Amino acid sequence: MPGQEISSKCATHVQQTSKPKVVVSPLSLDDAEVPPLNLYKPKESYTATIVSVERLVGPKAPGETCHIVIDHGGNVPYWEGQSYGVIAPGENPKKPGAPHNVRLYSIASSRYGDSFDGKTASLCVRRAIYYDPETGKEDPSKNGICSNFLCNSKPGDKVQITGPSGKIMLLPEDDPNATHIMIATGTGVAPYRGYLRRMFMESVPTFKFGGLAWLFLGVANTDSLLYDDEFTKYLQDYPDNFRYDRALSREQKNKSGGKMYVQDKIEEYSDEIFKLLDNGAHIYFCGLKGMMPGIQDTLKRVAEQRGENWEEKLSQLKKNKQWHVEVY
Ligand code: FAD
Ligand code: A2P
Repeated sequence: MPGQEISSKCATHVQQTSKPKVVVSPLSLDDAEVPPLNLYKPKESYTATIVSVERLVGPKAPGETCHIVIDHGGNVPYWEGQSYGVIAPGENPKKPGAPHNVRLYSIASSRYGDSFDGKTASLCVRRAIYYDPETGKEDPSKNGICSNFLCNSKPGDKVQITGPSGKIMLLPEDDPNATHIMIATGTGVAPYRGYLRRMFMESVPTFKFGGLAWLFLGVANTDSLLYDDEFTKYLQDYPDNFRYDRALSREQKNKSGGKMYVQDKIEEYSDEIFKLLDNGAHIYFCGLKGMMPGIQDTLKRVAEQRGENWEEKLSQLKKNKQWHVEVY
């Protein structure tokens, strides 16, 4: 697998060689000390406009994930790692007369947006489809409200947004040479796409990344890979600063013959990961809530094999602000 080949290289903390990057126009929030927070709330949401909706996955992917670009006109600025809330149009089935509850979506672009002008935000949305457990058939009446609204929307449609929200997944920028280990299942890759664009695609005056970014992405199969072209390009351009490992659960097997999950990849590289953490690396988890128990079990097992106490190590990582979790 291409990811494995690259990962077997020894990545070191070397400064990036200069590759042509997109020069972004500075935004007023670049100089801010704190991130923007909850500029728009459920009762006073911002009316944004859909710019584009693009299916991200191939025909053999189970399910559909879309990349949705939203024009906020520069009025709902955000930092990488934050989320927007979306209020789908229509009435809340549980509260007649009231609007739908807000659903949160991690922002998948950098603060400059995909058009680099600071006026858009992109979301990576998986359509929630309900299959009747008895018949195995789709029951459209129970499909997810907001994800289907977003994936069905068309350029020019209006969308009510709130936020930005969240501080847990902000990219710490105090040390531009730090290591960032990013673990994602499915749409959990969204905040990392924002980080990586900031690190490798944009020429940002206030952040010259020269550290190591290591992405572990778990999806069902090759057709389900998200933003793979962008990540592969960073591997080519910044092989000393970027590592990318994919866990394809329905195409690859782990060493016990079970599904290949991100935690199996973590185990494979556990020695390096533990060393990086001991040297101050940040580790992020984003995506399915269900991945956390498996990941914690893996890390605990590895710690014990190394003669370390996982609970103590984890509490130290949390205390040092190296441990970042956003699962849903
Ligand atoms: P809902 O309408 O809320 O339904 C939820 C589920 O229940 C669906 O699977 C639906 O099919 C099922 N359901 C509906 N009715 C019934 C019924 N009668 N019986 C049984 N089941 C039923 N999601 C992303 O795709 N991308 C992201 O980047 C992302 N980021 C997030 C970040 C955060 C911090 C959080 C908290 C969540 C994030 N989510 C993300 C999840 C997102 O907020 C929504 O929860 C998700 O899109 C489902 O919302 P929905 O309105 O489509 O489904
Ligand atoms: P699978 O569905 O084959 O069990 P999704 O695209 O549905 O968001 O899922 C992303 C990936 O996360 C899929 O490969 C899925 O595998 C995998 N996954 C599901 N459950 C877990 C889990 N408990 N731990 C780690 N990965 C998981």
